[in-house]
Amino acid sequence: MNTNRHTHNPEGKHRVIVTKNLPGSRWIDILTAADCRIEVCQEASVLDVATIRAAMDDRCDAAIGQLTEPWGETLFSALKAAGGRAYSNYAVGYNNVDLEAATGVGIPVGNTPGVLTDTTAEMAVALTFAAARRLGEAERFMRAGRYRGWLPDLFLGTLLNGKTLGIIGAGRIGAAYARMMVLGHGMSVIYHDLTDNRELEAFVDAVDRFRSDRQLAPVTCRRADSLASLLAESDCVSIHTILDESTRHLIDARRLAMMKTDALLINTSRGPVIDEAALVDHCRSHPDFRAGLDVFEHEPAMAPGLAELDNVILVPHIASATRWTREGMAILAACNIAGVLRGDPLWEQDDTLPFLDDNPPRAIPSIVNAKELGL
Ligand code: DGY
Repeated sequence: MNTNRHTHNPEGKHRVIVTKNLPGSRWIDILTAADCRIEVCQEASVLDVATIRAAMDDRCDAAIGQLTEPWGETLFSALKAAGGRAYSNYAVGYNNVDLEAATGVGIPVGNTPGVLTDTTAEMAVALTFAAARRLGEAERFMRAGRYRGWLPDLFLGTLLNGKTLGIIGAGRIGAAYARMMVLGHGMSVIYHDLTDNRELEAFVDAVDRFRSDRQLAPVTCRRADSLASLLAESDCVSIHTILDESTRHLIDARRLAMMKTDALLINTSRGPVIDEAALVDHCRSHPDFRAGLDVFEHEPAMAPGLAELDNVILVPHIASATRWTREGMAILAACNIAGVLRGDPLWEQDDTLPFLDDNPPRAIPSIVNAKELGL
């Protein structure tokens, strides 16, 4: 299929294909300043490989793609053959990208870390409380006109204050979510990760000292001995890990059975980390267990039965959907492309927010295969 494209800066020297309209306009200014002709595909539907390939045609210097598109061998070879020098995902996650294929043809792959952290963590908090306090069920009840007056036992939920939080993946987003829940809700944290997160532990220590001065109950933070112990001890488990072969179906029927029968399970990372069919079975047989999901195993589809479950709250992969974040992601993706095309150095710092300033650094914010490419 041929895409309907909107072109910015038609005189630009470098042809950049962008597979979806992106929020804001700063990203267009950044690419224009880097002498790019920007062609933005206008279709609302997810573009398939053949369509993206056709849009790149026989000349394309760089592309910005979406997490819904399979950027593998076919697309990277086509991009390379069209003279392409850079690709950026419009996402921090890049499980849709075959890094080996990109690296094989020498194409740097950008992503957009940093600007999603608090926004995504806030959605994890929102889902946590929505699940704990049964907001989906209660809202449907109100809209159906079924409220007949206050009752002592109407929609009894779970109090989280002082309980134990299990974080799977204590990176930027997992740690931000943990900080919000510790500081705001006095929860103690157990986290599962490959390495210690000393910064998070120090934060929780500081909160604990603050609370102890005020005779408030202690809060603690430690790395779990095993995933099994985290699952068994936590009142709420929130998933913030990347998706790769080691985390696909990390939460399956066996691991769900290790959790407390009235635990909460929150997922704002990637759907396939949970075996969704197993979760449906588990939620059916454990009515006090609750899940809050932003992501799904076979997006946009849901596992049969999931939508009918009252103990599950569902939102359509919108954890990063604030204007500030989505515009920030567009800016970072544009800076990745502009930086590579200009031959800028890599940004060596973790903090990518300076790229949102009026005068962004002359650097490439984030290339995930930089080491492999010797950049
Ligand atoms: C990402 O950037 O990986 C997010 O899933 C987008 O919401």
